[in-house]
Amino acid sequence: MTRVAVVGATGYAGAELVRILAGHPQVELTALTSRQYAGVPFSRVFPAFETLVDQACEELDIERLAQRAAVVFTALPHKLPMGIVPRLLDAGLRVIDLSADFRFQDRTLYERHYQPHTAPELLPGAVYGLSEVYTTQIRQSRLVGNPGCYPTSVLLPLVPLLRAGVVDGQGLIADSKSGVSGAGRAATLTTHFCEVHESFKAYKVGTHRHTPEIEQILSREAGRDIALSFVPHLVPMSRGMLTTLYARLAADADPAAVAACLERAYAGRPFIRLCGSAGRLPDTRYVRGTNCCDIGWRFDSRNRQLVLLSAIDNLVKGAAGQAVQNMNLMLGLDEATGLRPVPGAL
Ligand SMILES: NC(=O)c1ccc[n+]([C@@H]2O[C@H](COP(=O)([O-])OP(=O)(O)OC[C@H]3O[C@@H](n4cnc5c(N)ncnc54)[C@H](OP(=O)(O)O)[C@@H]3O)[C@@H](O)[C@H]2O)c1
Repeated sequence: MTRVAVVGATGYAGAELVRILAGHPQVELTALTSRQYAGVPFSRVFPAFETLVDQACEELDIERLAQRAAVVFTALPHKLPMGIVPRLLDAGLRVIDLSADFRFQDRTLYERHYQPHTAPELLPGAVYGLSEVYTTQIRQSRLVGNPGCYPTSVLLPLVPLLRAGVVDGQGLIADSKSGVSGAGRAATLTTHFCEVHESFKAYKVGTHRHTPEIEQILSREAGRDIALSFVPHLVPMSRGMLTTLYARLAADADPAAVAACLERAYAGRPFIRLCGSAGRLPDTRYVRGTNCCDIGWRFDSRNRQLVLLSAIDNLVKGAAGQAVQNMNLMLGLDEATGLRPVPGAL
């Protein structure tokens, strides 16, 4: 059994980590931290956990935490983890951070879009936790920067095709729609019921901070600078994310190469489900509560436009599920351990 702690356990991503880890056969949950709910049983914060996770939340005390855990998930707002993670690593722990603080290898890129970094020395050694793409590096790492939810949904379909030169990388467009839990649990004007119910809107068009995160990985994998037009939308559902990608097929590529490339890249990977060019289209309902990423595609021969679609649960493959998958890789476990609950029909 590996002793595991969740820092920021009472947020949406943290609570999803607790849900998954409570059912994981190889871990013991030893600490759940929260400022607002310190001393309060987790099951009183989220009654769904009654009799299942009754342990009390506690204030973050890094020294105590280091004595009681071997792996820590930090599920805090950006900026906070960079102040905590160096001390956890110094104490010999492994860390999977769900914020953006360790997703960028280039400090200036992070600082351009977020804030000054106080632990830049850790950035070159941190591994970007896109489980199916950086598997080998994740297995050997002590610090994983878990990807954002939008980047996961964009990168999983695109990376193998760009790497193989099946799409040409020019004029890439990603149109993504997210459930409201993607914005976290804290109440805000833009995410309260009356603002989102019966409504559908784009936001941060061309300016969302996930754009540089996605472009960093696309450029690394293509071996040249790749620009992406990224348009996120908020949809009135609590969880789920659907991304529609528009890419030009490379001049010498055949549409059949799309299937061949994706099948090769994801052979044997339990959480990538390829829906193909003629089967069902990805639907957020079919990945709800699961760590799956469903990928489908259509080819419009009139303009050589490839349309790729991906569906994930933003809180699972987009956050907590992928984080646990990364922990499994770091611990040498089967990557699917604890992540195989069968989804419901609705
Ligand atoms: N939501 C998603 O779909 C999603 C997807 C991918 C990645 N992420 C990332 O995961 C992280 C958590 O996101 P979330 O959506 O779970 O946010 P959230 O619902 O707002 O939860 C934030 C958590 O951090 C704690 N916290 C807040 N401010 C703190 C502070 N100043 N010091 C210590 N603890 C603090 C909160 O509890 P207390 O206030 O009680 O301390 C809470 O447990 C973020 O970095 C986010 O970008 C989220």
